[in-house]
Amino acid sequence: MLRIEGLSRPFGGVYAVRNVSVDVADGELRGIIGPNGAGKSTLFNLISGHLRPTQGRITLRSERIEGLSAHERARRGIAIVFQGARIFRGMTVRENVMVGAHARTRHGFLDAALRTPLHKREEREIRQSTDAALERVGLADWADRYAEALPLGQQRTMQVARALCGEPALLLLDEPASGLRARERHELARLIEGLRGGGLTIMLIEHDVQFVSNLADRLTVLNLGEILAEGAPEEIRRNDDVITAYLGREPAP
Ligand SMILES: Nc1ncnc2c1ncn2[C@@H]1O[C@H](COP(=O)(O)OP(=O)(O)OP(=O)(O)O)[C@@H](O)[C@H]1O
Ligand SMILES: [Mg+2]
Repeated sequence: MLRIEGLSRPFGGVYAVRNVSVDVADGELRGIIGPNGAGKSTLFNLISGHLRPTQGRITLRSERIEGLSAHERARRGIAIVFQGARIFRGMTVRENVMVGAHARTRHGFLDAALRTPLHKREEREIRQSTDAALERVGLADWADRYAEALPLGQQRTMQVARALCGEPALLLLDEPASGLRARERHELARLIEGLRGGGLTIMLIEHDVQFVSNLADRLTVLNLGEILAEGAPEEIRRNDDVITAYLGREPAP
């Protein structure tokens, strides 16, 4: 599904991501872990096109995409839920999700202003994909509520629905569980499992190693912008380098 080769991106002379190579199989759930500032979000932004790499290649289903805009990558099936993604207050859940669907349409401002046939058809399609996404995440009954009235767990679910609108092939989730209570985390985990069960390829950044280990097929560990380790969750949890980098202490003898 996704092949990343030798990807680098510095900020002011310091590499946020350095020579990173990752292969994600079709239908895989890949966990990305690593300490604060390790480069996890930067890696996602490089994949989604919100940042450009200075070196390296990104191939999505055998097509090179590292030169494409974020919009073009979204249309090729990459969706991202940003770390700390904000909701639009004063808008309903459906409207919040529709904003995501709009991100992938073809029409421009003039089409919308003039209400051209293309615009009207796309509006109808957006409404349908929005309702389908809300149904898929179990939020259909909440569609007409104000987004800020939802508990935090369901606000996160709403962000996932927004990302699902364009029927993505690859979903990037940047710490979707952060700040959630145990029960909300559990529900989010079930949602992610369900999406994965439906064939979606998912990359999940998560600080809680236990949480991501229960979900992921494989884990990639980043540290200081580089890959420190990669493997099945049980291998990673036994890896001394990971324990040292992640917990900031020496592994037990
Ligand atoms: N737009 C930017 N401009 C300058 N430096 C940046 C920018 N974005 C990220 N960085 C730096 O790149 C490094 C990696 O940041 P990144 O946000 O990717 O880490 P992260 O692994 O997602 O951390 P966290 O777990 O805190 O979310 C950090 O040192 C950060 O300060
Ligand atoms: Mg981050």
